[in-house]
Amino acid sequence: MDHNEQQETTHKPVKRKEMTRRQFLSYTLGGAGAFMAGGAILPMIRFAVDPILQKKEKSGFVKVIEESKVTNEPTEVKFKIHQVDGWYESDPKLAAWIAKSDDGKIYALSPVCKHLGCMVSWSGEEAPNEYHCPCHGARYTKDGKNLKVAPKPLDEYEVKTENGWVYLGPIEPNSRV
Ligand code: FES
Repeated sequence: MDHNEQQETTHKPVKRKEMTRRQFLSYTLGGAGAFMAGGAILPMIRFAVDPILQKKEKSGFVKVIEESKVTNEPTEVKFKIHQVDGWYESDPKLAAWIAKSDDGKIYALSPVCKHLGCMVSWSGEEAPNEYHCPCHGARYTKDGKNLKVAPKPLDEYEVKTENGWVYLGPIEPNSRV
């Protein structure tokens, strides 16, 4: 091969692979379709997971009784709370047994029996000065300690007092016994 022939072969223009009209159309339509589908689907996904993305606020306290009305004898109070669970909002009614301990501290017990969830009541004929559950006979002390049938003590509400009123917050495991 002489010098000229060699130059011809080395400087051959590179043949570019061109896009066919069919390819161009399918890329363009595919891209536009994906964009439109994304525009329709993304808001639906966002709507579906929205409650998960919401920042959870600690449930608030509810004003239930005047501080001066709380004595050493447990008193039953009933109140409503506002609950938001995903898109579902409700105002369930709750109850608590409020009393003062010997050191004057106010505390509130949940009336839900720790056996199978019936409502306990304070100091009936069957159980003087104790909480008693009518379903299967569980008994608890004034502090909520389980004496019979139930496997755990009664739960306790978080309590705060402000301007002469008692407020109840979330339910927690019993810290008194
Ligand atoms: S539910 Fe209270 S004793 Fe069974």
